[in-house]
Amino acid sequence: MGKFKLPENLKISLPGFARQHKLALGLDIGSYSVKVCEITSGTNGRQLIKTGSAKLPDGAVEDGVLQDPEAVAAVIDALCKNLKIKQKKVAISMSGYSVIVKKINLAVMEDKELAEHIHSEAEQYIPFDINDVYLDYQDLKTNTEDSEFTDIMLVAAKKDVINAYLEMLAGIGLQAVVVDVDAFALENSFEDQISGGQNFILIDIGASKISINIIARGTSILARDVVMGSRQITQQIQEKLSIETEEAENLKIGGRKTEEEERTAIEEIMVNNCSQWILEIKKAIDFYASNYPEDKISRIILSGGGSKIKGLDKLLNKELNMETEIFNPFAKTEVSAKIDQDYLAHIAPEMAIAAGLALRPVTL
Ligand SMILES: Nc1ncnc2c1ncn2[C@@H]1O[C@H](COP(=O)(O)OP(=O)(O)OP(=O)(O)O)[C@@H](O)[C@H]1O
Ligand SMILES: [Mg+2]
Repeated sequence: MGKFKLPENLKISLPGFARQHKLALGLDIGSYSVKVCEITSGTNGRQLIKTGSAKLPDGAVEDGVLQDPEAVAAVIDALCKNLKIKQKKVAISMSGYSVIVKKINLAVMEDKELAEHIHSEAEQYIPFDINDVYLDYQDLKTNTEDSEFTDIMLVAAKKDVINAYLEMLAGIGLQAVVVDVDAFALENSFEDQISGGQNFILIDIGASKISINIIARGTSILARDVVMGSRQITQQIQEKLSIETEEAENLKIGGRKTEEEERTAIEEIMVNNCSQWILEIKKAIDFYASNYPEDKISRIILSGGGSKIKGLDKLLNKELNMETEIFNPFAKTEVSAKIDQDYLAHIAPEMAIAAGLALRPVTL
């Protein structure tokens, strides 16, 4: 089997950060909104210079697949123009069914041997034709004196899905130089805030999926997406109260005062959904705990628009008995004086993935 080639200058990226490189424009194309983030990196550290988000039409992006490229392109183009962004080299990320992240355990090999072997190895784990995917991997070098086996993080993403993004971006003059995975971009965003020795679970609650990434001893142990999200809450409110989507959305985020009856119905929907999310999170933690009983997870780091649901952090803290915090991806980054502080504080939790992407160097 021949080795396929990624498009020129493109790599599916695993976490890592180069300190003094020109950085790509972080572009997170979610199913609810597009977020952009531009960070510069110099000898004096990093600075956030541009950031913003814009809502997408419903259905334009579904399960990580571009359904309406023209509409998405128009939203990205308008957002970049609005923010006067000049950087044309972008880092994007994938999620959903078309990307598979799998950790496999193999006997230690030389780099060249591994590169040759990985394709036939990957075939067992990927539910698509190997010729239809872009493949990348990283040796996590977990072999020890006692073990000649090492963990390899394998990432496979469907070519047609990625190509559709590249084409859409090219149409508005943007060049994707990095293709990442949501869960890893999230990790990248959090990387420099990790304080020694602790283990974390990063949870990004978006509109249609929850990305979970468990990090222990500095590396990702488990990365998975759960197909649940905050949009379900809006849909259920809409159905229950027989109202339009926009009004349901507004009620959900507390944008207007509610009658007693509405409030009870909304609260019930919120609690039901949050409980289901917590069950899924518990499953991931239990799976981890059974494999790594020694290394307890001590903190939950929440992000995504869904993390702004009032009381969710406290509920997680209570149900999972772990310290829970809402992530601010800019906590350690200097922020340009041109960016409104209140606006930034408001959007920070859902900018986590875009911020992680904005730390990717443009030159590979
Ligand atoms: N204050 C709030 N309370 C509850 N939900 C909120 C709040 N603010 C935003 N949301 C919800 O968060 C969701 C958007 O989050 P986010 O921007 O992280 O999603 P996305 O990245 O576009 O989607 P995905 O990652 O699932 O493709 C929407 O469903 C929105 O209604
Ligand atoms: Mg998202």
